[in-house]
Amino acid sequence: MTQPPSLQTPLPGPRSRAVVDDMARYECPAITARRSRRAGETGVDQDPIIWERAKAGNVWDVDGNRFVDLCSAFAVMGVGHANDAVVAAGREQLGRLPHAMGDVYPSAERVALCRRLAEVTPGDLQQSFLCQSGASAIEAALKTAVMATGKPGVLAFENAYHGLGYGALAATHYRDSFRRPFLEQLNPHAVHLPFPGLEDVDEVLTSVEIQLRRGTIGAVVFEPIQGRGGIVEAPPAFVAGLRVLCTQFGAVLIADEIFTGFGRTGAWFACDHYGVVPDVMCVGKALGGGFPISAAIGRPEIMQGWGASQGESIHTSTFLGNPIGCAMALATLDELAGGLVDRAATEGQWLHTELGQRGVVRGRGLMLGLELGSVSGLVAMRAMLERGYLVLPCGPEADVLGFTPPFVLPRARLREALAALDEVL
Ligand SMILES: Cc1ncc(COP(=O)(O)O)c(C=O)c1O
Repeated sequence: MTQPPSLQTPLPGPRSRAVVDDMARYECPAITARRSRRAGETGVDQDPIIWERAKAGNVWDVDGNRFVDLCSAFAVMGVGHANDAVVAAGREQLGRLPHAMGDVYPSAERVALCRRLAEVTPGDLQQSFLCQSGASAIEAALKTAVMATGKPGVLAFENAYHGLGYGALAATHYRDSFRRPFLEQLNPHAVHLPFPGLEDVDEVLTSVEIQLRRGTIGAVVFEPIQGRGGIVEAPPAFVAGLRVLCTQFGAVLIADEIFTGFGRTGAWFACDHYGVVPDVMCVGKALGGGFPISAAIGRPEIMQGWGASQGESIHTSTFLGNPIGCAMALATLDELAGGLVDRAATEGQWLHTELGQRGVVRGRGLMLGLELGSVSGLVAMRAMLERGYLVLPCGPEADVLGFTPPFVLPRARLREALAALDEVL
C-alpha cells in the first residue's frame, strides 16, 4: 500500500510518539491501548495517534496527518466536529457565564434546554434531569425509578452497555472484563435477561413477565439498538411488549438512547421508529456537540416521584446543567432541526446498501455495523487508520465494524472510505 496523500508520516508520527511516551509515564496505564510492532513481529500496532484539531468530518493529528472520521468520535459529533454554530454558542456563553450553581441558582440556558428537550422528545417526556455523562444519566434514571415505584430491582439485558459508573455498571452486561474485578461491589439488585432476536421475543417477554410479577423490579432499562454490543436492533414486538408489561406491573421503562439519540438512526430518537414512548429516556453523547452533557428525560408523573426539593436536592452535582454545555446543546438541536436528521436517514440508507454489497449489515440511519467474519476488528481498525480513516470495532468479539459518521460528511468521502474498506477486507 502506498501512503495515502492525507498522511504525512507513518503512524504514529514522531510528534504523536513523543506524547504517547509522556502518556505512558503520567497517565493511568489502563486507559489507552499501546503496543508498537517491532521489526519482524506480527499483531496489531495499537499505539495511538494524538489528535490536534478537527473540523466537520476531518481530524488532524499532531503530525499533520488528516483522517476522515467514520465514527463521529464515539457517536458524539453528529453535527460535525467544531460545528460553527455550536462553537459560536459555546464561545459566547464561555465569555458571559461559564458556570452557575447547579441545584441552587440555575441559568436561563439550563431551563431553555430542558424545555427544548421536552419539545424534541416523543410523547409526554417533559421533565429533564441534566447530567454530565451517559453513565450519570442512567444513574439518574435508575434513581428516578426507585423514587417513582419504591422498588429497588433493575431488569436489564445481556450484551447491553449503559456505562461504567457503579450504578450504571450494575445494569451493563457487555464485556465481562468491565464488571469482573468489581462484582463484589456491584449491587445485587440487577437481573439480566437475554436480548432477543426475532425468534425468541415471546420467550424473553415471558421471562420479563415472570421477573416483574415478583413485584421487586422498578426499572427496565434497554437500548433500542445496542451500540457497543455490536449494533443489534431490538425486534419491534420486543419493545412493544416491554412497554405493555411495564405499564401492567408498575415498572419504569427506561430507553437508553445515549448512542441512538439525536438523529443517529435517521429519526430524532430510535424509539420513534418503534412508535413506543418510554417513561424515561436517557440521552448524552451527541447532545452537547462535543461538550459533556447528558439528560434523563421523564414523564411528569414519573418525575413527581422525587417530590419537591426541600431546599437541598438529593441528587445533584457541582456542574449540573453547566451553562456552556446547555448553550452548545441548544445550538446542536438547532443544527439538527435544520435538516441533519433527514440527511442521516438518506445517507444512512445509501451507506446501508453499499455496505450490504460487502457483507452482512446491521442497524439503521448512520448507525451501521458490518459483520467482519474472519477478519479481526482491531486489525481492520488499524488498517483503515493507515489509510486515513477512523473506525471502531464493536460487538462482544469485536467482529463488527461500526460506521457512525457525522451527518455532514459528504458522500464523496464515504465513497472513498468504501474503496479503502475494499482494500482492507
Ligand atoms: C448506549 C450507551 N449508554 C451509555 C453509555 C455510557 O456513556 P458515557 O460513556 O458517556 O458514560 C454509552 C457509551 O458508549 C452508550 O453507548
